[in-house]
Amino acid sequence: MRSTPRIPDAIGRARGGWMERGALLYEGKAKQVFATSDPSLVIIHFKDDATAFNGVKKASIGGKGAINCALTTHLFDAVAAAGVSHHAVRRLNETDLLCRKVEIVGVEVVVRNVVAGSFAKRYGVAEGTPLATPLVELFVKSDALNDPLINDDAVVMLALARPWEIAWMKEAALEINRVLCDFWGGLNISMIDAKFEFGRLDGRLVLADELTADGARLWERGTGRKLDKDVFRRDLADLGETYRELYRRVFGS
Ligand SMILES: Nc1ncnc2c1ncn2[C@@H]1O[C@H](COP(=O)(O)OP(=O)(O)OP(=O)(O)O)[C@@H](O)[C@H]1O
Ligand SMILES: [Mg+2]
Repeated sequence: MRSTPRIPDAIGRARGGWMERGALLYEGKAKQVFATSDPSLVIIHFKDDATAFNGVKKASIGGKGAINCALTTHLFDAVAAAGVSHHAVRRLNETDLLCRKVEIVGVEVVVRNVVAGSFAKRYGVAEGTPLATPLVELFVKSDALNDPLINDDAVVMLALARPWEIAWMKEAALEINRVLCDFWGGLNISMIDAKFEFGRLDGRLVLADELTADGARLWERGTGRKLDKDVFRRDLADLGETYRELYRRVFGS
């Protein structure tokens, strides 16, 4: 991928300037969140860092940030076309996404189509076992607690989300899952599971954060070859090469 110059943002231009990064508000394992001159907007920078097991395993993968930023932008467009609103305003350059600043809900929403990962371990079911219907699970968004599984009543009790928010997120997650399964299916890839984060914005909820192969399991149909971060977690292949191949399959170059 060639490097592209900073593109003037429509909103930034309307206010007579470039949308530049301001103060670093938050640095996570895979992204940085920067303030902008507009308090309602943030710039999300996708880093080249890969981490697994809550940051215990780390590496820098050249080009990963740009690939994840491109995938997120592309997949957000796909879910928006299906009527699900999200936080992204526009891509500013290869690695930076201008987004509406939201209050992230402290619950991660996982949709599973096929048994894998923690579900397989927790219930002793073989990885690869198809589920009869997509299943939604909720996890507390807390690295300190290792993102534990939580049920709806406990989410409400701990004031992580209101009952209507839980219902809304579950329905939205299933809709996003349908869109993404169709998208990946068209490329002969099965989406086994995926994690979504939602944010509060003007009294409603929107899909936030990212849609990448860091937060989903993608298995090539026929071969079962893994095209997601499990490649890194389990040392199955080179993550950079795997992500570059995924990029080529989506964007064709
Ligand atoms: N529109 C947004 N406004 C504010 N924060 C956001 C927005 N979208 C995503 N975030 C948050 O920005 C952070 C991105 O960083 P990153 O994904 O690297 O974090 P992380 O290491 O996964 O840790 P964690 O997600 O547990 O904080 C996340 O905390 C995410 O919830
Ligand atoms: Mg994250």
